[in-house]
Amino acid sequence: MENQIAVKQQTMLEEVKAGLQKPKKSLPSKFFYDERGSKLFEEITQLEEYYPTRTEISIIEQNIDDIAEQIGPEAMLVELGSGSSRKVRLLLDRLNSLACYLPVDISEEYLQKVTTQLKQDYPDLMITPLCADYTSFFELPDIEQSYGKQVIFFPGSTIGNFRPAQAGEFLENLAHVTDDNALLLIGVDLKKERSVLEAAYNDEQGVTAEFNKNMLKHLNRKLGTNFNVDNFHHSAFYNEEEGRIEMHLVSEIDQVVSVDGQQYRFEEGESIHTENSYKYSLEEFEDLVATWFTVEQVWTDNKLYFSLQLLKKKAVAGNSAPENSQKL
Ligand code: TRP
Repeated sequence: MENQIAVKQQTMLEEVKAGLQKPKKSLPSKFFYDERGSKLFEEITQLEEYYPTRTEISIIEQNIDDIAEQIGPEAMLVELGSGSSRKVRLLLDRLNSLACYLPVDISEEYLQKVTTQLKQDYPDLMITPLCADYTSFFELPDIEQSYGKQVIFFPGSTIGNFRPAQAGEFLENLAHVTDDNALLLIGVDLKKERSVLEAAYNDEQGVTAEFNKNMLKHLNRKLGTNFNVDNFHHSAFYNEEEGRIEMHLVSEIDQVVSVDGQQYRFEEGESIHTENSYKYSLEEFEDLVATWFTVEQVWTDNKLYFSLQLLKKKAVAGNSAPENSQKL
């Protein structure tokens, strides 16, 4: 166990150094999430300016009958990166014949907590937690009971935090590990006016700024780096050409930061890129998934801010089981 932690720290250190060595400095967004980071993120989702969470929740609520009908009886419900589980509870409340619920998360501790809570609230539901990094290759376990459809729930527009090429790899893997006719129920944030997009990542109260800067505190604590957090400020803007919100930490002065005995120079105004959040039009998203999935249904809100989409795996996508390959 201690060894595992040491290995994790080592790779974390390597990733940090690799990011800071680039001509345009960057840090992996997964380092946002220590305990405080997760709390701050939860706060972000409740901010007035941050429309995605509440919009997605109301889309689910308003269309729950329709969603349940498409999912059908006795489904295997898989949730990727199971968040605060507020959204999946809406599904669990309505889908009373689920064969099983399989939350997938990288954090073992977090999975434990969610599983314990849900087991109390849904005593008849079979819950099979899976600790895995769904952003790289992962497989779904065999489960003993029979089930109807396999439904992968991927809310929060987390797909938007991948670059399009990475999103493609993710979809390819998903197509590879799921049954024929598997469904993907996915939240996708939509393109809209710059002012609305930028406000969502620059809230008045500064929670998003705090969240962004917390990454440096996290690195200081875990890796012994000496970032002076007060010498960096939060910056988030919509890069229209790339179709994404970018989050950065901008150095306010010329400074040197030491990481594992090595010095990294920052010029005044130089930034560390910490996150992307891609926004799609409905057409762009359909194109993004087209190799592996067809868009069966799109639910949205009246301002067209956010979409919940039901995708169906294409018959030829992924490596389907041998008995189906004659269909090709
Ligand atoms: N996927 C969501 C989004 O891009 C949530 C999210 C991920 C987020 N990282 C974030 C929100 C950083 C604010 C800041 O909006």
